[in-house]
Amino acid sequence: MSGTVYYLTKYGSTEDYARWLAGDVGFELKSIQKGPKIGLENVVVIGSCLRVGKVTAAGWIRKNWHALKGKKVVFFSVGASKIGTPDREDMIARSLPKEIIDGMKVFHLPGRIDHAKLGWFMSRMFKSFAKYEKDDNERRRAIEGYDDVKRENLGPLVTYIKGL
Ligand SMILES: Cc1cc2nc3c(=O)[nH]c(=O)nc-3n(C[C@H](O)[C@H](O)[C@H](O)COP(=O)(O)O)c2cc1C
Repeated sequence: MSGTVYYLTKYGSTEDYARWLAGDVGFELKSIQKGPKIGLENVVVIGSCLRVGKVTAAGWIRKNWHALKGKKVVFFSVGASKIGTPDREDMIARSLPKEIIDGMKVFHLPGRIDHAKLGWFMSRMFKSFAKYEKDDNERRRAIEGYDDVKRENLGPLVTYIKGL
């Protein structure tokens, strides 16, 4: 089984997951930022960070869907929003048409917030959004920053891909 992990990252957490995953399943690794062409691989994994309510890789997925739709496509999102609530599914539904969503197996992974890396403006913006978070612990984490990016989070994805 041949495969490639394509990823789009802004601050590095999606790249960390993509690199670990490619190593665990023996796939190639390609950055979407470099505008890669889809090859002859049977399995395509797409990792995308979430930003301001959107899947950042959505444009690239839409543009390449004609080449992707004949393959087994696995998608993973990386974000700050809670997993297991409708938030992530809503973001995907806002970013991609139903035909594409139905053609991918979707996973969600937790991300990281490192205010030192965000820069002054983004850090202020993220903290100002965090004020609306009702859960005290989640609000504190968003304001102080956190790192939930762990290799073991990929367990279900690795198992799924190895079973294809
Ligand atoms: C300006 C900004 C907007 C963000 N918007 C969202 C969002 O709408 N939903 C979400 O789940 N996470 C959001 N996040 C959190 C990122 O998705 C999270 O930090 C992720 O780990 C970033 O991935 P990357 O390191 O690959 O860029 C946002 C982060 C920043 C800095």
